[in-house]
Amino acid sequence: MRISVLGLGYIGLPTAAIFANRGFEVVGFDTNGDKVEDINHGVFDIHEPGLRAFLRDAFNTGNFRADEKLVESDVFIICVPTPIDDSNKPDLSYVKDAGERVSTVLERDNLVILESTVPPGTTENVLLPLLEENGLKAGKDFSLSYCPERVMPGKILKELTENQRIIGGIDEKSCRRAEELYSTFVEGDIFTTDPTTAEFSKLAENTYRDTNIALANEFARLCELHGTDVWRMRKLANNHPRVDILKPGPGVGGHCLPVDPWFLVNGDSGLIPVVRKINDGMVEHVGKRIRDNTPKESVVVLLGTAYKANTEDQRNSPTMKLVERLQDFEVRIHDPYVSEQRGDVYHLVKGAHTLVLMVDHRYYADTITPSKVLELMEGNTVIDSRDFFDAKGWEEAGAEYILLGANR
Ligand SMILES: NC(=O)c1ccc[n+]([C@@H]2O[C@H](COP(=O)([O-])OP(=O)(O)OC[C@H]3O[C@@H](n4cnc5c(N)ncnc54)[C@H](O)[C@@H]3O)[C@@H](O)[C@H]2O)c1
Repeated sequence: MRISVLGLGYIGLPTAAIFANRGFEVVGFDTNGDKVEDINHGVFDIHEPGLRAFLRDAFNTGNFRADEKLVESDVFIICVPTPIDDSNKPDLSYVKDAGERVSTVLERDNLVILESTVPPGTTENVLLPLLEENGLKAGKDFSLSYCPERVMPGKILKELTENQRIIGGIDEKSCRRAEELYSTFVEGDIFTTDPTTAEFSKLAENTYRDTNIALANEFARLCELHGTDVWRMRKLANNHPRVDILKPGPGVGGHCLPVDPWFLVNGDSGLIPVVRKINDGMVEHVGKRIRDNTPKESVVVLLGTAYKANTEDQRNSPTMKLVERLQDFEVRIHDPYVSEQRGDVYHLVKGAHTLVLMVDHRYYADTITPSKVLELMEGNTVIDSRDFFDAKGWEEAGAEYILLGANR
């Protein structure tokens, strides 16, 4: 059986490799010709633990190649981007392009699977008509399912196999065929439903998380206002058997949480735009705490530019957005996982007034000694946006330690 995977990014590349390693013939198709060539030479810029070796294994099987041309296949798996535009509306142009391309090579008895995160109704109302443009009928001549991806950067290979999956087929046969295919490597349970429910469930999962983070961020700002400490408060409140307040932070980044909730928004009303505003507003909130505690034109060092701890993924990074808002300062950035920002922290803090912990990379706990940093800094302001540093250790070393969500 030949499988074509469309879109060789964070999702498509590991997915293609996993099928190849399970013995399927896999052709990875991408519209970016340079990417195709690089991948065929084992070069790619996704720093995912284990992926390099996993892809090497896939090439060694002889089952995998990347191609700039989409070829006839038994199965087409679409993993293309689904961003939002400047007015937060879903941009389905990549899904449409992929659908049109598949339609040109689609044959009887093929199975098409959409994995990209999309607004409810996209599989049946947008993709299906494009696929049928070649005269074949969905359900009768070919099968079509929506199967959302739930993996987390940093754990993609583990979660690809271990996570539970939802399959939304346009009919019973589409569900069964997709289930048979995924069960060749998925160890978690597989649930089947209709496409719109599957599309909605993926969006609901991310909106649920985004909303709960917004509540934590709202509490952080209110705790500052009321002179208390959100981190101590949440520990107490979370003793309640049915309460689980998440940790606040300097903003929500990544490819999914700041984007996916918008796919459910209908006009400007409802909860979701408010949630997005709260989470997007955290960058400015941290910016204000920096400005309130740092003389103009002095040096500010931001630790961590990835959107998530212990990864290099900088998509929608709150830190990079914060840099744009700190025009009045000399801003230096550091991230141990990003090659061009990997410098020596001690060198970077020389002459700085303010040090800001933006991302709770383990690296910073393992490598930073407060007294050594403070000796090199000109000022002594340390802002912790994650309750990550040892506050007592910093204060004893002479820092003016400021904690996000606390009145100090
Ligand atoms: N990254 C994640 O952690 C994650 C998690 C769950 C779901 N998703 C969803 O998966 C989808 C893909 O995300 P990603 O992070 O892999 O994106 P990505 O940007 O890393 O990769 C997408 C790839 O698709 C290619 N492409 C664009 N149009 C194409 C077309 N018409 N045909 C073939 N290739 C095309 C691009 O060149 C790119 O290489 C998105 O809908 C995303 O929301 C991502």
